[in-house]
Amino acid sequence: MAKIRCIGVLTSGGDAPGMNAAIRAVTRSGICNGFKVKGIYRGYDGLIKGEVKNFTTEDVSNIIQTGGTLLRTARSKEFETPAGRKRAYETLQREAIDALIVIGGNGSLTGAMLFAEEYDFPCIGLPGTIDNDLYGTDSTIGYDTTLNTITECIDKIRDTATSHERIFFVEVMGRDAGFLAQNSAIAAGAEAAIIPEDSTGSDQLIQFMERGIRKSKKSCIVIVSESPKCGAMHYANRVRKEYPNFDVRVSILGHLQRGGSPSARDRILASRVGAAAVQALVQGQRNVMVGVRNNEIVYVPFIDAISKRKPLDPQLIRVLDELSI
Ligand code: F6P
Repeated sequence: MAKIRCIGVLTSGGDAPGMNAAIRAVTRSGICNGFKVKGIYRGYDGLIKGEVKNFTTEDVSNIIQTGGTLLRTARSKEFETPAGRKRAYETLQREAIDALIVIGGNGSLTGAMLFAEEYDFPCIGLPGTIDNDLYGTDSTIGYDTTLNTITECIDKIRDTATSHERIFFVEVMGRDAGFLAQNSAIAAGAEAAIIPEDSTGSDQLIQFMERGIRKSKKSCIVIVSESPKCGAMHYANRVRKEYPNFDVRVSILGHLQRGGSPSARDRILASRVGAAAVQALVQGQRNVMVGVRNNEIVYVPFIDAISKRKPLDPQLIRVLDELSI
């Protein structure tokens, strides 16, 4: 295996709080372990175009507390094509980068896996997404901060829901995973969560209404996982039609969920997996995502991280049901 002297680091896909802490960890740990580190801007698009800069420890000063990503990010269409990946490889050769650390979610790690296989190039992934939908790690970078942000928003919405005695449908992100919806519902004491994983086949809204939520409560909050067809608006319209005496409102939290200073938990996770990614390269590992399971660092093959479905604890569904009576 060729000796690794220089590591490239990039962020890709949706930004997530804690990505900067991960960039800092990779850079500083890389330098500490004798590597040269180069930052690649604008994700795979920047890799294709050659937007690369040498990183020193100072380049990553004062960023651990900031949201977003200093390296910028993109969802690259070009990298999905063989021609785009070829141009990316040419940049790596020109810049003498021998290994790549990719911080991102499912799509970004899929890109890293394809590239690693096609060019026999060492790639390590860090789980950077608010959705928490990567298999093999208990949490992803950004998830904890976003969960806290959503909880804070629901607390505020609760004031209006209570004062006006309304039903609120609050839509949260998560792509096709319900971790954010389910856990924010529990954390904020919401009355129900409508999530993609609840695949009982029955209508979650009818279940919720039939539990007679308005019999004991004058107001309530239902968290709904985003969905192109069945988002919060869809459920609100149904309730308006089927139960016209209820006063219904919708709040779609949108991108405010992705911003803001990372929580201590996300900063620590990002720092741990960033340093472990460098160790993975020192040990000769490649094509794995670094995660934390049961508080231990784990190296998860890309194929498992991106293609296995991370299960949502079914107990959580019961806990929410029991506590929202
Ligand atoms: O994957 C992170 C995420 O925020 C998802 O929860 C959401 O579906 C998506 O990205 C939104 O992407 P964009 O910012 O490109 O609209």
